[in-house]
Amino acid sequence: MNKFYSTNYWSVGFQSRLYDRLSPESYFESMRRVVAVLPDRQSLNLLDAGCGSGLLLQFLAGRIREGMAYTGIDILKTGVAQALLRARELGVADRVSCFQSDLTSSLAGQKFDVVVGHFSLYTLATSEKRQEALANLKSLIKPDGLLILANPSVDYDADSIIEESIQLVRNRHGFLASLIKQTLVYPFTKAIGLRFIQKQLRSGEWKAYTRDEFSQEMTEAGFSVQHIEEVYAGSAFLATARLAP
Ligand SMILES: C[S@@+](CC[C@H](N)C(=O)[O-])C[C@H]1O[C@@H](n2cnc3c(N)ncnc32)[C@H](O)[C@@H]1O
Repeated sequence: MNKFYSTNYWSVGFQSRLYDRLSPESYFESMRRVVAVLPDRQSLNLLDAGCGSGLLLQFLAGRIREGMAYTGIDILKTGVAQALLRARELGVADRVSCFQSDLTSSLAGQKFDVVVGHFSLYTLATSEKRQEALANLKSLIKPDGLLILANPSVDYDADSIIEESIQLVRNRHGFLASLIKQTLVYPFTKAIGLRFIQKQLRSGEWKAYTRDEFSQEMTEAGFSVQHIEEVYAGSAFLATARLAP
């Protein structure tokens, strides 16, 4: 059962849209931080590496309408299909391309102003695999381009994520909306999603970082880290980096 669960986890989540529906507000807040650290320029060419169901598109749609071009890649066909569907629903499909591709295999093609890996590299269990993926991403960034990565921290905690999410929904959408999330949605988020991820992180199947490890991994891959902040209720780090001179 567990093997089935871990193999099909993202795929079933994307196809059923449970991934979208159960994602906690704190996760969306981390995506808002990605958008907040983007360069101001209108004509950015952005790669979403490990795009999953393209949730980030929801937060980039405004920028895409203003001139950004978005490319998403993911190893899962179900993710790519959902991302393309979302682009159509958001009315931005003409500036969105998505492909099935493995981050650990050599990726050739156009270069990007911004490469984002939002909670994707940590699912590669070994440091070697993550370095392969980072080398590939490095080869796709323009010389003055920006890398934005978010990954779980060693302090990943399902309860804190839910608590922060309820608070965020209350502030953003009011008491009733937060009550609905708290009683009808987030119990499933925790049971099906966050607890499983927490288990994978604690067993070492997936990578949970200290701030230093996160920084070192990017430095080792040839990036110069600009900035690291806590996101996701202290359960993750978000970093920006540029190619090292
Ligand atoms: C936690 S999901 C994050 C998805 C999306 N970035 C988001 O924040 O909603 C992790 C994603 O990484 C993708 N992934 C894992 N290993 C990959 C690989 N080797 N190549 C491409 N994508 C990969 C998975 O298929 C999954 O879609």
